[in-house]
Amino acid sequence: MKDYTPTKPTVIVIFGATGDLCIRKLIPSFFGLYKKGMLPKNFRIVAFSRRPMSDKGYYAFLKDEQKRRKLPVLQGPEFKKFLKNVSYQQGLFDDPVSYKNLKKKLIGMDNQEFKRCSNKLFYLAVPPDLYQPILKNLSYHGLTIACSDGDGWTRILIEKPFGRDDETAKNLDHMLGKLFREEQIFRIDHYLAKETLQNILMFRFSNMLFEPIWNNQSIEKVEIKIYEKIDVEGRGAFYDNIGALRDVGQNHILRMLALIAMENPHTLDPNAVRSERYKVMKSLQPIRGADVKKYTVRGQYKGYRNEPSVDKNSTTETYFKIKAFINNKRWKGIPFYLESGKAMKESKAEILVYLKESGAYLCPNEGGCDFQNVIAFKIQPEEGIAIRFWAKKPGLVSVLEPRELSFLYNDVKTKEKTVDAYERVLFDCIKGDQTFFTSTDEVLASWQFVTPIIESWKKAKLHIYSKGTLGPDIKL
Ligand code: BG6
Repeated sequence: MKDYTPTKPTVIVIFGATGDLCIRKLIPSFFGLYKKGMLPKNFRIVAFSRRPMSDKGYYAFLKDEQKRRKLPVLQGPEFKKFLKNVSYQQGLFDDPVSYKNLKKKLIGMDNQEFKRCSNKLFYLAVPPDLYQPILKNLSYHGLTIACSDGDGWTRILIEKPFGRDDETAKNLDHMLGKLFREEQIFRIDHYLAKETLQNILMFRFSNMLFEPIWNNQSIEKVEIKIYEKIDVEGRGAFYDNIGALRDVGQNHILRMLALIAMENPHTLDPNAVRSERYKVMKSLQPIRGADVKKYTVRGQYKGYRNEPSVDKNSTTETYFKIKAFINNKRWKGIPFYLESGKAMKESKAEILVYLKESGAYLCPNEGGCDFQNVIAFKIQPEEGIAIRFWAKKPGLVSVLEPRELSFLYNDVKTKEKTVDAYERVLFDCIKGDQTFFTSTDEVLASWQFVTPIIESWKKAKLHIYSKGTLGPDIKL
């Protein structure tokens, strides 16, 4: 296998090192890459956060937090070796002195440890209101530019939510654009890093079988869903200010839609892939005014208003369903149902592509010949692709039965393992591959679709649904 690990020393600074994301995902993923030998040979992680702690104090903090959250506790000789590359840096996000100290530490590493200029990766694992002070301070202290001799790269990894509507997204983008070049900015949507999502591209464009039928002549409808059994799980303060459409709709669900509906980029060049995904966003038929009632449903689970830190009169949605259309030749008239909810009956993320019933089927039975092929992209909990087709039941009589052509990753038999989405995010960013990160155009076009819906929802009916169901029982 080609060696993708950069040989240049690389320093990763995590802002928000005591936060949930860092504990749950970032440290385990960096360790995962380390174990696979996929981190740069010479790397350091600088964990930056507010509370005062020594390096050892931070290691103990990680262990306690993993236990408290009932996560697998990372330990053992390999983890100890990994931790030798992790140091803690106390600092306040809006305090210039903290950045001076950070700069001193980074320069010290370059001069004393590496004896050369290192690559720098800044990961913003913090709430969005901290983006601005962090970015401005990084820039002010000259940390956004690569070393003065032009050696080494500097990149920024930024988590969603990227703004809260088209206006704020534009402002954030404007600020980022002033401080960084687009090729330095890695906007994360961890769904894009999921194996089955990445496979949609290959599946669609590397098989002769599917492209000829991937259009409004053969496809009846597409359903894209993220159901979660969990409720807001103590994230009430964050969630109540966001709601389901901003939390997973504007990003994860629309990225899934883009991959399913995009045209062939004809190359795996990141710009070509991102540009085709963007064109889908741009072609979404706007839903405004009276159409909002006709094409959308918003719901809230019973009991949500009693969750800690949630407003007692909250009208924040924990569920949405949208019937969307794409205004282009390939998809004209075909509904795409976009749906997500918390506290649902089951946890599942999938895309179902329903083929039309041609009416020309061989129908051996008296009636009941509703033979429909369905292609399922399974994202969670199983990962894989399944096609429902119809075949003759073995025996003397001609009876049809549904069968499945399918494969699953993480199959015990094949021992094929998928890579965790965050490992992929970190690996691609260090490698400098932006294919599975959202471009500024995609982000803004997604907000342009979502913002009018959110605006109209201020006056729209909120449907209350019981926990453990499939959301409000409303047809679109
Ligand atoms: C996050 C949302 O982006 O995605 C969460 O903020 C949601 O609310 C999560 O639970 C779902 O991601 P996954 O990978 O667990 O399906």
